[in-house]
Amino acid sequence: MENFWSNLPKPILALAPMAGVTDTAFRQMCKRFGADVIYTEFASANALVYDNKKTRELIAYAPEEQPVVCQIFGNDPEMFFKSVKILETMGFTGVDINFGCPAYKVVKHGGGVSLMKNPKLCAEIVQAACAGSGLPVSIKIRASIKAGQDTKDKIEGDNELGKYECAVDVVTALDLVNAIRHLPAQAIMIHARSFEQPFDGEPNVDIISQVRTIWPRILLANGGIYSPEKAKEILEQTKADGVGIARGAWGRPWIFQQIKDYLASGQYQHLDWEEIKNTMLKHASLALTSKGTHGLLDLRKHLAWYVKGMPGAAETRAKLVHVNTVADVVKILS
Ligand SMILES: Cc1cc2nc3c(=O)[nH]c(=O)nc-3n(C[C@H](O)[C@H](O)[C@H](O)COP(=O)(O)O)c2cc1C
Repeated sequence: MENFWSNLPKPILALAPMAGVTDTAFRQMCKRFGADVIYTEFASANALVYDNKKTRELIAYAPEEQPVVCQIFGNDPEMFFKSVKILETMGFTGVDINFGCPAYKVVKHGGGVSLMKNPKLCAEIVQAACAGSGLPVSIKIRASIKAGQDTKDKIEGDNELGKYECAVDVVTALDLVNAIRHLPAQAIMIHARSFEQPFDGEPNVDIISQVRTIWPRILLANGGIYSPEKAKEILEQTKADGVGIARGAWGRPWIFQQIKDYLASGQYQHLDWEEIKNTMLKHASLALTSKGTHGLLDLRKHLAWYVKGMPGAAETRAKLVHVNTVADVVKILS
């Protein structure tokens, strides 16, 4: 299959994966506002292989979302091999491997960011995913994770899958990329925060610049990009091919258009209330169409994010988090 990554316009603006947030309705909104590529929320590779109905529903997508990348997690190369085949038959454009999730429920089973402690296993997983289908494979990693003595010993003994060194107690994104760069993965998104500072604190963008020196394929910078100005700054600083936007799109799917405009002209527009209201209603109707009344429950937090910081927001938010129908949304907004 064609490597769609190399056909995307640069800089690439990606909607980063967010469990419980990047459902099809939200992804479609971001796509409408200019996201070049969008990631699903993460899905278990094992669950896909065992044909779990809920998992299939979780990653359902609309054709207009393309190019859409399905993100999967797990720790068994064979499950990755099998699940990418399934994703290919489901029509996804790409598959992304989660090496960055710090959530206990993922880490305790040896998935997500805990895999960064074992670059050899990461390489085996990437290799299996690349061999399993023709889909372009990408990975999402963190800036670093403390390795611990036991893991350090394990890493130092294994060099046959690529040249890398891990002589310190911390495994960095650089160590991991060194371990997988001989494999035909096409893109890497780096969340520039460590496992030890999961979602807060200043991202370590230096690590992205360092990875840039050894990774010529697609590199996306992620973490703390909440404005067009920040996107420009990070792109210039890291020389990445694009950025991954996560919380910056909460209640602001139009941030992608704003970044595009700012990069092109140094200026961007803010939406007025009428435009925001129409965006919320469009989002509500997509949520209803895609997931029925359940979609409206998932929509509630998005509605609250849209009005955050506005005059009277607390009162409106209190009403929006109880909507059950699109008519409820219309009534509150009018
Ligand atoms: C609610 C939430 C859910 C997330 N779920 C995922 C996920 O499923 N897979 C993943 O790789 N990262 C996930 N992330 C991490 C984001 O993709 C991103 O790396 C992180 O939020 C940093 O970017 P930001 O500072 O722009 O928010 C999640 C983040 C949040 C806040």
